[in-house]
Amino acid sequence: MKLLQERIRQEGLILSDKVLKVDSFLNHQVDTQLALEIGREFARLFAGRSITKVLTIEASGIQFAMAAGIALNVPFIYAKKKKAVTLSEQVYAASVHSFTRQETYQVSISQKYLGPADKVLIVDDFLATGAALVGLVDIVREAGAELAGVGCVIEKSFQEGRGLLEQRGVHVHSLARIASMSPGEIHFVGEDDEASSGSIKENATC
Ligand code: G4P
Repeated sequence: MKLLQERIRQEGLILSDKVLKVDSFLNHQVDTQLALEIGREFARLFAGRSITKVLTIEASGIQFAMAAGIALNVPFIYAKKKKAVTLSEQVYAASVHSFTRQETYQVSISQKYLGPADKVLIVDDFLATGAALVGLVDIVREAGAELAGVGCVIEKSFQEGRGLLEQRGVHVHSLARIASMSPGEIHFVGEDDEASSGSIKENATC
């Protein structure tokens, strides 16, 4: 998605060769029109797959799952990271280890909202190590629902997430795939060297 790649070049802050900060437009302050456009792009990519639910994980996947749900005219569900006091009913749960935060946590959704009649599109903001998304895939399968695929806004293709999902037979679509990055430079998958070497702000500015 060209529009997204351009915004990453213009506003993204590369904090290291592994961490990209996009909180001016994607996951802290959110450009609502861009989020809606992202939702329409996911709907286009998964058109004709008879999706009944979009699934994400709190917090930063929510705006994109909602946008995709609007575009597909279906509900979205977000998995909770902490069991809410109101979530007294039966839940599907998965254990997720975050390598970035070095912690393991439970994600859960109520069994009321997902079942064998559902065809699910999973959406998230980042695909990095893939741990959270693998947890959501496990939940969809535990529910007996069909998984249409995973849509990610930004994929760091140099990390193992895509490989882990594909090993599980999951179809992955990412709107911006970063092949490599370092402060001041970013390369997207599928662009030749000259075109992909866009300048980008360095962490010194944040
Ligand atoms: P993941 O691939 O399953 O997301 O797992 P990982 O443990 O690698 O990532 C942990 C958290 O850090 C995730 O957010 C993920 O979206 C986020 N993250 C990973 N790489 C980057 C990056 O380069 N930039 C930014 N801004 N975030 C990144 P989370 O724990 O689900 O938190 P939340 O923000 O959605 O609440």
